[in-house]
Amino acid sequence: MASSVMPTPRRGGGPQPPAAVSTIGLRKSYGDKTVLDGIDLRIPAGSVFALLGPNGAGKTTTVQILSTLLTADGGQAQVAGHDVATQPDGVRAAIGVTGQFAALDDLLTAEENLLLMADLLRLGRREGRSRTRELLQRFDIADVAHKRAATFSGGMRRRLDLAMTLVGDPQVIFLDEPTTGLDPRSRRTMWDTVRSLVAGGTTVFLTTQYLEEADQLADRIAVLDGGRIVAEGTADELKAQIPGSHVRLRFTDPAEYERAAAAFPGAARDDENLALRVAGDAGLDALRALLDRLDAAGIRAADFSVHTPDLDDVFLALTGHGSTETGTSTPLHVKETLR
Ligand SMILES: Nc1ncnc2c1ncn2[C@@H]1O[C@H](COP(=O)(O)OP(=O)(O)O)[C@@H](O)[C@H]1O
Ligand SMILES: [Mg+2]
Repeated sequence: MASSVMPTPRRGGGPQPPAAVSTIGLRKSYGDKTVLDGIDLRIPAGSVFALLGPNGAGKTTTVQILSTLLTADGGQAQVAGHDVATQPDGVRAAIGVTGQFAALDDLLTAEENLLLMADLLRLGRREGRSRTRELLQRFDIADVAHKRAATFSGGMRRRLDLAMTLVGDPQVIFLDEPTTGLDPRSRRTMWDTVRSLVAGGTTVFLTTQYLEEADQLADRIAVLDGGRIVAEGTADELKAQIPGSHVRLRFTDPAEYERAAAAFPGAARDDENLALRVAGDAGLDALRALLDRLDAAGIRAADFSVHTPDLDDVFLALTGHGSTETGTSTPLHVKETLR
């Protein structure tokens, strides 16, 4: 938490925005377990960055090091122009952090929580009040301003927690798994909130296990796995790194499956599910050609689906294992079309 408030110089109009966060060779071990094995990052000011990784990948460890709550074993890190090791006070004054578990006082109302934070930041009575009023409005909690935090839903708690982070007007905000455990509707509200933060010029460093979340929010995404960044880029750049679209043909009759496999020798076999994976463009012309080919061979598939790559596929391709999140892949199912 910020212990003082410094006037925060905003970005100039230079061609390349300065880095809000940069690390070189960041390392951290617990005993003989290496959690971070040399992490290099550069996050331009005013952008949203997502650190994507499964449970236990080291996301929270990274956030804790960058927010000076934890000391790295090696490497360097700068946040808002301050070195985390040698200028921790400068870092703290420039950042806001919200964790997976909200730091609210349940006995206080939403308004009291915000006013308390303003007091801790020594904002002064007038400024504290006006800042509190503004944040209650902005986070859509004004109508419950006088209710105790204990009565809030998960989504409201996260919003209040984030509002508290913003009392000090930080340049860089760390959101550690901001939507884990939230229902889909609250998750979407949170996404809107994050988007509005960025529109105001704040740099957001978020961690997530949700591929869709990174895809939705982040300008750039880094995939953390086994203590290393295994991929970094925009969602589109990451998607471009993996094999393209494919069509999955599934059969119920093993003989039919074998005939199809013979007709499509290039297709990947999934014998267990009697399914073939035919690589190629998922465009209409390619699909039509595929259907014509099936027709010509007199083959009837039980169902087929068209898959365009999403971040889930990226994760699988890069790490050799899936993400913990399932169900984010949204193949276009065209069942029974081939009857
Ligand atoms: N204080 C600690 N002592 C020992 N091991 C820890 C400690 N904190 C985290 N770890 C281990 O470090 C790894 C990374 O943890 P963490 O950064 O919390 O991952 P994530 O946030 O990506 O789920 C995990 O295997 C975790 O068990
Ligand atoms: Mg974590």
